[in-house]
Amino acid sequence: MGGLIFGYDIGISGGVTSMAPFLRKFFPSVYRKEALDKFTNQYCKFDSETLTLFTSSLYLAALLSSLVASTVTRKFGRKLSILFGGLLFCSGAIVNGAAKAVWMLIVGRILLGFGIGFANQSVPLYLSEMAPYKYRGALNIGFQLSITIGILVANILNYFFAQIKGGWGWRLSLGGAGVPALIITVGSLVLPDTPNSMIERGQHEGVKTKLRRIRGVHDVEEEFNDLVVASEASKLVEHPWRNLLQRKYRPHLTMAILIPFFQQLTGINVIMFYGPVFFNTIGFADDASLMFAVITGGVNFLATIVSIYSVDKWGRRFLFLEGGTQMLICQIIVATCIGVKFRVDGEPGALPKWYAIVVVLFICIYVLGFAWSWGPLGWLVPSEIFPLEIRSAAQSVNISVNMFFTFIIAQIFLNMLCHMKFGLFLFFAFFVVVMSFFIYFFLPETKGIPIEEMAEVWKSHWFWSRYVNDGSRHPN
Ligand code: BGC
Repeated sequence: MGGLIFGYDIGISGGVTSMAPFLRKFFPSVYRKEALDKFTNQYCKFDSETLTLFTSSLYLAALLSSLVASTVTRKFGRKLSILFGGLLFCSGAIVNGAAKAVWMLIVGRILLGFGIGFANQSVPLYLSEMAPYKYRGALNIGFQLSITIGILVANILNYFFAQIKGGWGWRLSLGGAGVPALIITVGSLVLPDTPNSMIERGQHEGVKTKLRRIRGVHDVEEEFNDLVVASEASKLVEHPWRNLLQRKYRPHLTMAILIPFFQQLTGINVIMFYGPVFFNTIGFADDASLMFAVITGGVNFLATIVSIYSVDKWGRRFLFLEGGTQMLICQIIVATCIGVKFRVDGEPGALPKWYAIVVVLFICIYVLGFAWSWGPLGWLVPSEIFPLEIRSAAQSVNISVNMFFTFIIAQIFLNMLCHMKFGLFLFFAFFVVVMSFFIYFFLPETKGIPIEEMAEVWKSHWFWSRYVNDGSRHPN
């Protein structure tokens, strides 16, 4: 449910902003340009900062609250963080569904964003701590899979709700976030807290009984002792943030910043947030645009399943490099198609059918490439490379960088489309080339390596070995 609601919020806003009654009510100037003017520059018809603020405000709020949430998660337990997240989601969904003015839309998105900060910090941690170690990798991508299900569900609901007579379907789309929100809220009340978190907070009694229950075996002495030792070791770390700046953690810090940065610079959220708006821009009718969003959402979901199966077989590097190449080729083709028809003046004239099919096809192949590489790996790789003593701090850096660049892309995409035109796709293509070179030269393979032995991969790496020498062995 935590991943699902995140995905739902990613997918819902683009569809809603391409519904004419919604635009007419909240963004009348955009509506006038969109619905009434089919002749002048199409690249700029959605360019409105309040419209993008509606989408992007959520990520800024998530960035801020994930910083607070890391303390709540540590001091009061994962369960309470999940409950907070649920309550914030419920209130955000209500304010959005009942919105009467733009400020209510934005306040609602901010509340949802605060919820996401709490949920994204606590849910993956909760899963990793509860999961038997053998299934941890698969469960981790399970979180990304739930995100893609959330996006797909949002796209499907937008398609149907847009057809409601009377034009109030957008209220159901926005209010719909209340369903998973309610499930998380009620669910968090009956979830047990994790043994790790109870020990961390000094509640040793009851932990063994709980471990017996969740592991389904009687003898839990060894795991209990491991948890106590790990918790004591992590308490010795007084300044996880300052630690992160030490020379020996340079490779980890670099990955915690660059992996989420590059993930967003693939340009994926142009499709996830503004797919329907974009399809509208290149000349498709409202309902066709919403249908294409359902198709890209479906492709995104299916390709994530491929990644679950292949990530431990073919390895992370192979998927990263293959996905990058695939995205690059598609971006060049899409830029060319749009450039040829819309030129720089953005006035397309009549669009032939083959053109529509080619653009949609290559956007789908691009989404496929992302969804089995940078999508899941952008979360999986950072989560498996940090040693215990910097894990929470490095994970916060990872989430914050991700949210920050998600915010930037959400905020400036429509403006970039207006100014860079079809060149926007070449802009993202440039970053895909840079990130692929980065992976090729700087990311060691982490497939099949136990987390405790991860230090070795840096020590034998041609570049990172100079930072991580033998004098700096990781305690875990
Ligand atoms: C990214 C999101 C993106 C989603 C698409 C996630 O891994 O962090 O920004 O919208 O994948 O499936």
